Amino acid sequence: MEYRELKPFPKDFLWGGSSSAYQCEGAWDEDGKSPSVQDCKPIGRGNSDWKVCSDHYHRFKEDIALMAEMGFKEFRFSIAWTRIIPSGDGEINPKGVAHYHEVIDECLKYGIEPVITLYHFDLPQALQDKYGGWTSRQCIDDFVRFCEVCFREYGSKVKYFLTINEQNMMTMYNMGEHKDDRERYQANHHMIVAMAKATVRCHELCSAKIAPAPNISCVYPATSAPLDNLAAADYDQFRNRLYLDTIVFGEYPEALAEYFRQRGCMPDITDEDREVMKAAHPDYIAFNYYGAATVKFVSIEEGEKAKAAGRKEGANREEFMIGMQTEPGLAVSVDNPLQDTTPYHMGIDPVGLRLTLRQLWERYRLPLLITENGCGMVDELTADGKVHDDYRIDYLRKHIIACREAITDGVRLMGYSPWSAFDLISTHQGITKRYGFIYVNRDEFDLKDLARIKKDSFFWYRKCIGSNGEDLD
Ligand code: BG6
Repeated sequence: MEYRELKPFPKDFLWGGSSSAYQCEGAWDEDGKSPSVQDCKPIGRGNSDWKVCSDHYHRFKEDIALMAEMGFKEFRFSIAWTRIIPSGDGEINPKGVAHYHEVIDECLKYGIEPVITLYHFDLPQALQDKYGGWTSRQCIDDFVRFCEVCFREYGSKVKYFLTINEQNMMTMYNMGEHKDDRERYQANHHMIVAMAKATVRCHELCSAKIAPAPNISCVYPATSAPLDNLAAADYDQFRNRLYLDTIVFGEYPEALAEYFRQRGCMPDITDEDREVMKAAHPDYIAFNYYGAATVKFVSIEEGEKAKAAGRKEGANREEFMIGMQTEPGLAVSVDNPLQDTTPYHMGIDPVGLRLTLRQLWERYRLPLLITENGCGMVDELTADGKVHDDYRIDYLRKHIIACREAITDGVRLMGYSPWSAFDLISTHQGITKRYGFIYVNRDEFDLKDLARIKKDSFFWYRKCIGSNGEDLD
């Protein structure tokens, strides 16, 4: 609906920005850190130097001072497990522990709330080698032990933790390289149990609040055909609810569980798993949003054909992608000609954000925090030493208005933490694709001086935060 008047943002709204350790810290082998799976097999970052990244490990004070200048109320960053427990399951590394104390203290010095992600794609490689990472149940206990160290060390200073970033993207894109769906969904289940246990332990060990942080988007049917509408509802279970119902309600969505059973990929769930899933109660829901999904129905037969075509030797990119995006008998994800996109084919859909916020609030009745949303583009540093990123300002403005509309709808939104606070290495396209308010002066392999330069969006966001979201001009 369209309103004549929008409600204001709450007074304590958490304006800020996000990052993740492996994409910005660099210092990949310093002070006792061991390699993570991201260091050993950097996806798109292979086209970019990832050992130094934005050198945030050494320059975090300068970066946080700039965030303070923008008026940040929160800074979301991740703690690298490989710094805290380099072997994944052995000795604690005091230098790693001390580093994050310093980062947290620096935030608090400026009144910036640290929002800490405990896992952002960067499993210790040692655990991948030792037992296949999340494929093994052992990974649950090792992750929980790492979380306990963080709760004990930082829990008295930190108010907001996040368990696992984008578990759904890791599973849907098979980032763990599991051999089949059975193994993939078993590994996914281990992450669900690990999150549930970590949530329970957080509440036992400190007074911080804790949330999951999946990538969530509302789902549109490609046409008004009844079957496409069914496909949209099913895909919502598959893409979104599998990762939230399990942690908020402690249950798999029923229809999806039956679908998994019939496809032979329903994971083994022990009584102890069920118990801890029921016992875990996240305090809020954090989520990343980069545009809505659009789907159409696909029969089992057609879907199997598309999957086989995508897997065959010599499959072209299109066949591969369609195969990846097809769930036989459930849905196939398609492009939406009515949704704007960036040149990198990421959605620009603020209405979808409002709808996503509404659906999450209405289903789970938990406060929501947007932990990623942003516009990855090639930025140009002009001769006058500036970056005129009006496209980013336009993108953020539209999404912030959508947040305000959702608040007017009744949604309880805690904050907005776009990707990314400063330039860092994109997961898929290296440093070429930038998201930050602060330009980091480097190219893919030429590290230049890594100087920090305020983009036009820096000044715009400062005004936005200073007016609590009222001044978006
Ligand atoms: C999210 C991730 O999927 O999207 C981030 O949590 C990632 O790690 C971001 O960087 C944007 O994706 P990309 O590929 O443009 O970096």
